[in-house]
Amino acid sequence: MTTFHIHGGIPLQGKVRIQGSKNAALPILAATLLTGDASDIRNCPQIADVQHMVSLLQSLGCRVRRSGDGYLVDSARAGACNMSGDAITGMRSSLCLLGAMLGRFGEVTMEHPGGCVIGKRPIDLHLKALGKMGVSFTEEDGRLIGRVNRLRGADIRLSISSVGATENILLAAVQAEGDTTITGAAREPEVEALCRYLTACGAHIEGIGSSILGIKGGTPLHGAEFTVPADRIVAGTYLFACVGCGGSVLLENAPCGQLEAVIQTAERMGARCQMDGREGGDGIYGADYGYESGLYVQAPERPHALARLRTAVYPGFPTDLQSMALTVLTRADGKSCVEETIFEDRFRVVDSLRSMGADIEHYTQNIVLVRGVSSLRGAKVEARELRGGAALVLAGLMAEGESEITGCAYIERGYENIGKDLRDLGARIVSV
Ligand code: EPZ
Repeated sequence: MTTFHIHGGIPLQGKVRIQGSKNAALPILAATLLTGDASDIRNCPQIADVQHMVSLLQSLGCRVRRSGDGYLVDSARAGACNMSGDAITGMRSSLCLLGAMLGRFGEVTMEHPGGCVIGKRPIDLHLKALGKMGVSFTEEDGRLIGRVNRLRGADIRLSISSVGATENILLAAVQAEGDTTITGAAREPEVEALCRYLTACGAHIEGIGSSILGIKGGTPLHGAEFTVPADRIVAGTYLFACVGCGGSVLLENAPCGQLEAVIQTAERMGARCQMDGREGGDGIYGADYGYESGLYVQAPERPHALARLRTAVYPGFPTDLQSMALTVLTRADGKSCVEETIFEDRFRVVDSLRSMGADIEHYTQNIVLVRGVSSLRGAKVEARELRGGAALVLAGLMAEGESEITGCAYIERGYENIGKDLRDLGARIVSV
């Protein structure tokens, strides 16, 4: 497993291009299965989870070929098979093959999907919704088996806004007989990207980007070209890296429209952010970078504390960036309060931050109080999940002295080349 060695305390300076979105690419790659045709999915990040999805599609009989920065996927000869092994149990997104397999073949057999240990992560909403569309599920030897003769459209109300459940319902609904309405659908940009790919393939979906989606089932689908949008979480990670370390950076290609709550939070921390095309900028960043498209960030001298930062479903502040914001707040000029509302186990990073000198106290299971310290100190810490691991890299960059982050394979599941990206911004970080 990769280990990062970081020499911290260096302000970031320069520009970096933001990779394609992991959480958009994965369901879209799964969706290629529905078309029985060839699709060209561009701007796919080269990360372990995408490799897993590619190998799962290949194991189902799809022809998959790397092409430029993406994949050509031909699902004409795909057939149903039992899906098991690391690619299924090692990542949560294998779950979107549930809807895709049922949509294409009316059957699916798979081991239970895994993913980062950030909470219980049940799949009850997925099973209940697909059940309403006619699928019957059983369990045998730890495998989930779903069967349906003919998927039928249904009115589905999600009691919790679930990204994965919304995606699975969409994947099944485009192939169902009759119409489906999803009320309480997740509005995350990754759901929108999946809708856009499916409509490019010929599907009829109304209300894209809203919490009520109307899907006309049974429209014949064909392959399509699609470009995966830039990764808002990677952009947010580098944004907070700059706010935490100081300096000024350009995040080329950052999906600014998807980052409003994140940018507002960085601005509350004292950062100055300027988006391409936005009114009111004074050109200070443009002078350095020639007005390239993206997000310009100038860090404050020291981050301001936040009376309250609360995660929420989109368009709120994303749970996937909570650990990074928390890390920045460890160096803020006062007391902050951070509340996690989506996953119950997303403060696992707290102990490691404390070992680097952070002053963080649990108020309740999902609220922590942070008293800013003047500096963190380098330490040896272990990444135990993707986003928490990335936050530890930020902590290492912010800290005085040397840090060693082990367990970085978790981080590489979501970041194409975080070490190089940060080196391009002037950080001293090497991977061994
Ligand atoms: C997606 O996970 C993302 N993963 C996560 O990113 C992200 O943190 C999360 O959405 C929230 O934005 C992928 O897209 C692969 P949910 P998902 O279903 O779909 C509860 C990362 O680091 N729930 O929206 O698994 C659940 O417990 C990853 O890239 C049920 O109760 O999340 C949670 O509290 C980590 N029953 C809430 O809903 C269900 O059947 C939202 O989860 C499903 C979910």
